[in-house]
Amino acid sequence: MAKVVVITSGKGGVGKTTSCASIGTALAMQGHRTVLIDFDVGLRNLDLVMGCERRVVYDLINITTGEAKLSQALIRDKRVDNLYMLPASQTRDKDALTFEGIELVINELKQEFDFILCDSPAGIERGAVMAMYFADEAIVVTNPEVSSVRDSDRIIGLLDSKTRRAEQGESVRTCLLVTRYDPERVEHADMMSVQDIEEILAIPLSGVIPESQAVLRASNQGIPVVHDSESDAGQAYMDMAARFLGEDRPMRFIDFERKGLFSRMFGGRR
Ligand SMILES: Nc1ncnc2c1ncn2[C@@H]1O[C@H](COP(=O)(O)OP(=O)(O)O)[C@@H](O)[C@H]1O
Ligand SMILES: [Mg+2]
Repeated sequence: MAKVVVITSGKGGVGKTTSCASIGTALAMQGHRTVLIDFDVGLRNLDLVMGCERRVVYDLINITTGEAKLSQALIRDKRVDNLYMLPASQTRDKDALTFEGIELVINELKQEFDFILCDSPAGIERGAVMAMYFADEAIVVTNPEVSSVRDSDRIIGLLDSKTRRAEQGESVRTCLLVTRYDPERVEHADMMSVQDIEEILAIPLSGVIPESQAVLRASNQGIPVVHDSESDAGQAYMDMAARFLGEDRPMRFIDFERKGLFSRMFGGRR
């Protein structure tokens, strides 16, 4: 049975698109047929992070309006089998997307895929609600700072009220992914700790992704960071995807290790 999963946050720039690309890649690597849908109309970011921007011909809106068939718009990943993406429109008006249109697309994708990952736009308005409306599960992406946690709290409220499941009296299974975590700044009380965030949001923690230069490096190359198995962020996304599939893995990269002079001078790759 296909699962629709929304990656959402409220706040922009917290790591939704980065997470969607890496978690989707990891799920496909495990053999699950996975499709990523970019709901960020006007920005179109996911194709860049996936490194397939030059292969975009049709987009989500073209399918909902009948201008293209789903098979024409789906882009097959060059690196991983079982992985596809559906780009957002860069040129069209946000209002061109309708709930009816999305429902048709998602129902068609459900015939072909195990996981349908919806990369949400920022905000708590129509675009974000559209991305979450058909979700069975949600990954709430939060940074360790007050404004991000507050927005995530509002998004959790929307997941409980503005989704089809909520309207039918069911719940959307929701988990927390803390990204851009810097244990050193937490130690110095510049950032909120994972425990603080968990306490406020009160949803189960499924992963912590450290702040890492590997993410920027990977994005610039159009390769999801999860492919960089040497990097901390890549490993953290692998762990997160394994937990998402039900495996029990300890949380890593959350403790501050005071580095000695030697490692500070010759420090390893981050
Ligand atoms: N773990 C991380 N470490 C460092 N930079 C990150 C991390 N996660 C995301 N970023 C950077 O933050 C910016 C916003 O990420 P993005 O995934 O586009 O966020 P969103 O989709 O929520 O707007 C990007 O420049 C991305 O490279
Ligand atoms: Mg994004």
